[in-house]
Amino acid sequence: MHAKVNDGKYSLWTFQRLSLCIILVELCRTHEDISTQDKDVELGGNVTLSCTPTKHYDTVQVTWQEKTDQGIENMAVYNKTGGNVLPTYKHRIRFVAPGLNDTAITFWNVSIQDNGCYYCIFNTYPLGPISGNPCLSVYDHLQTFLHYQIFDGHLNASCIATGFPRPNISWVASGAEKNEKEVTNPNGTVSVISSILVNVSSLKQQPICRVTHRREETDLKIPEAERGYLDPVVLTVLVLIIVVILVIIAVCCWRRHRKKRSGF
Ligand SMILES: *[C@@H]1O[C@H](CO)[C@@H](O)[C@H](O)[C@H]1NC(C)=O
Ligand SMILES: *[C@@H]1O[C@H](CO)[C@@H](O)[C@H](O)[C@H]1NC(C)=O
Ligand SMILES: *[C@@H]1O[C@H](CO)[C@@H](O)[C@H](O)[C@H]1NC(C)=O
Ligand SMILES: *[C@@H]1O[C@H](CO)[C@@H](O)[C@H](O)[C@H]1NC(C)=O
Ligand SMILES: *[C@@H]1O[C@H](CO)[C@@H](O)[C@H](O)[C@H]1NC(C)=O
Ligand SMILES: *[C@@H]1O[C@H](CO)[C@@H](O)[C@H](O)[C@H]1NC(C)=O
Ligand SMILES: *[C@@H]1O[C@H](CO)[C@@H](O)[C@H](O)[C@H]1NC(C)=O
Ligand SMILES: *[C@@H]1O[C@H](CO)[C@@H](O)[C@H](O)[C@H]1NC(C)=O
Repeated sequence: MHAKVNDGKYSLWTFQRLSLCIILVELCRTHEDISTQDKDVELGGNVTLSCTPTKHYDTVQVTWQEKTDQGIENMAVYNKTGGNVLPTYKHRIRFVAPGLNDTAITFWNVSIQDNGCYYCIFNTYPLGPISGNPCLSVYDHLQTFLHYQIFDGHLNASCIATGFPRPNISWVASGAEKNEKEVTNPNGTVSVISSILVNVSSLKQQPICRVTHRREETDLKIPEAERGYLDPVVLTVLVLIIVVILVIIAVCCWRRHRKKRSGF
């Protein structure tokens, strides 16, 4: 009887350890059994996501799902009798590798909504479901504009950056008053508009609008010539130099003219 109780404890402990092992194996398995690749795609492009089991399984059905803010949504199913893409996805995706050994779907004319992660689930027999989790990173190339004007000794510069993911704007300009706003465009891209207002005479260097987009930095500079031209001191000096040159030319011409006349 004593031995039986011990046996019971022992087997319970073994059972717990075994369950833990199984859970751990299951957790690891879902990440290792399906080989996938994350993809980058430009807005409006075509891209294929594929899932390939690392070894052969007897698959009954393959299901594709999308991870959305609302939860997980079924997109498409494929089994021995054929494939079916759910109505909301019909115009967006298509099976390119219809089969149960591996699976691939193509997204046509990718939109910002397609940005995110997906599940491909292989319903295998007798193991049950195993899944892969490929992700799609949609981007739109960066477009930038720099507008500026000067009035009352102040520089008013606006830097506009449009792209996806949202571009970041920072300014390299001392003593500038900054103002930023953003707009989401109909195609899902984001335009960031950043403006500075700065007293021209307090500028120590050429102001730079620095745009960061997808780990790339772009600098937009207000031309030095423009700034110099607009600086009242430089402007005055330039005008003085021109006047002096004109005076020298006039004097030279007048002298030559006089020499020629006295020569006759
Ligand atoms: C996407 O695929 C369609 C159909 O094959 C093709 O007409 C279109 O040019 C492709 N778009 C791009 C950006 O490759
Ligand atoms: C196969 O998928 C279709 C939908 O595409 C479904 O109606 C059918 O029941 C599935 N068959 C099996 C055996 O699961
Ligand atoms: C799937 O894989 C099995 C075993 O590797 C093979 O016999 C079968 O022909 C494959 N089916 C397809 C459609 O490729
Ligand atoms: C791609 O999608 C955009 C927006 O959804 C649409 O305006 C455009 O006409 C589509 N292009 C093609 C080739 O279907
Ligand atoms: C700066 O210029 C923008 C347009 O270029 C204008 O909308 C804005 O009001 C100007 N800011 C100031 C303070 O004048
Ligand atoms: C998306 O919209 C923005 C702003 O309207 C535009 O600049 C950009 O070119 C558009 N992108 C595509 C791929 O159509
Ligand atoms: C601009 O700054 C200079 C010196 O920093 C100052 O003398 C001038 O009054 C300022 N101009 C305006 C319009 O504030
Ligand atoms: C933009 O700035 C925010 C906050 O400063 C940061 O979290 C984000 O990663 C930046 N994005 C890029 C593309 O640099």
